[in-house]
Amino acid sequence: MRREPSPVRRLEPGEPTLAAQHAVSDAVFARYQAFVHREAGIWLAPVKKALLVGRLSRRLRELSLTSFAEYLDLVQADEAERVRMLDRITTNETHFFREPRHFELLEQRLFPRWREEADAGRRARRVRVWSAGCSTGEEPYSLAMCLLEAFPPESGWDLEILATDLSTRVLERAQAGIFSMERAPEIPASRLQAFMLRGTGRQEGFMKAGPELRRLIRFSRLNLNAPAYPALGRFDLVFCRNVLIYFDAAGKARVAARLLEHLAPDGHLFLGHAESLSGMALPARSVVPTVYVHEAPPADVLAPSGDSRRA
Ligand SMILES: C[S@@+](CC[C@H](N)C(=O)[O-])C[C@H]1O[C@@H](n2cnc3c(N)ncnc32)[C@H](O)[C@@H]1O
Repeated sequence: MRREPSPVRRLEPGEPTLAAQHAVSDAVFARYQAFVHREAGIWLAPVKKALLVGRLSRRLRELSLTSFAEYLDLVQADEAERVRMLDRITTNETHFFREPRHFELLEQRLFPRWREEADAGRRARRVRVWSAGCSTGEEPYSLAMCLLEAFPPESGWDLEILATDLSTRVLERAQAGIFSMERAPEIPASRLQAFMLRGTGRQEGFMKAGPELRRLIRFSRLNLNAPAYPALGRFDLVFCRNVLIYFDAAGKARVAARLLEHLAPDGHLFLGHAESLSGMALPARSVVPTVYVHEAPPADVLAPSGDSRRA
């Protein structure tokens, strides 16, 4: 008799076996769901069970734990383990100059306008940027390259980028500023040459962000879902791209409302290509898809970056 092909889906490489997935009962998964949601705002839909198992199994083995319930008990009792667990749960995919239309908007519309306004005495020669959910740093380094090109040191502009993330693991990598040369094609050749250092000898195959870029950026851990943020001041640009996509609707609206409060007058909020504030009843107006300004900006036009220079 001819055998029918099995209807069972093959496991992807690296995906935990079904037996491993069954190691997390629905009840335990629901506990993880509630915990991660409360801590980080991230909503783990039921289909994310395999992802949870895949990302945490190794840690359980390292700690010689045999159940996911036990690990959650540990995480709940131990702050350092909580940070480690959230490090593993987050999705950190990113690249240089992601969503080129955002960078075109900066270079073609916003930067020339700011220069004109500064020349006319209507704004300070200062730009403050926040990359919220900066992952391994490609986003803030891309912003730094654009800013330095548009406002070189001799122009007298004061530039500052705050780059934050929940994950300490990605922040360490971002701070080191070292990237595989495989990433080089994402950076326009002229910028690559001007701002990135090519590794030689033992560093062959890697590139490092140059000192001008690194001087501009301050990295810090910040949980966007925390009940309160430190005193950050206001920003001309807030990039929070491909972060809120992991939040549920209420969490998205709550964080977006706070990001809008951190915009300077004429400040712009940039979201990821699949994100939008529509239907959220927020005081925001879209200037182009995924880019927003505050509908009722504060009036201190001559001090666009607020008084608070440091978080
Ligand atoms: C997919 S990456 C996006 C990186 C970059 N913004 C981009 O668009 O290329 C999402 C980042 O958001 C961070 N993240 C997730 N939840 C967060 C939270 N509650 N607070 C701060 N960062 C968070 C993750 O750690 C991750 O590095």
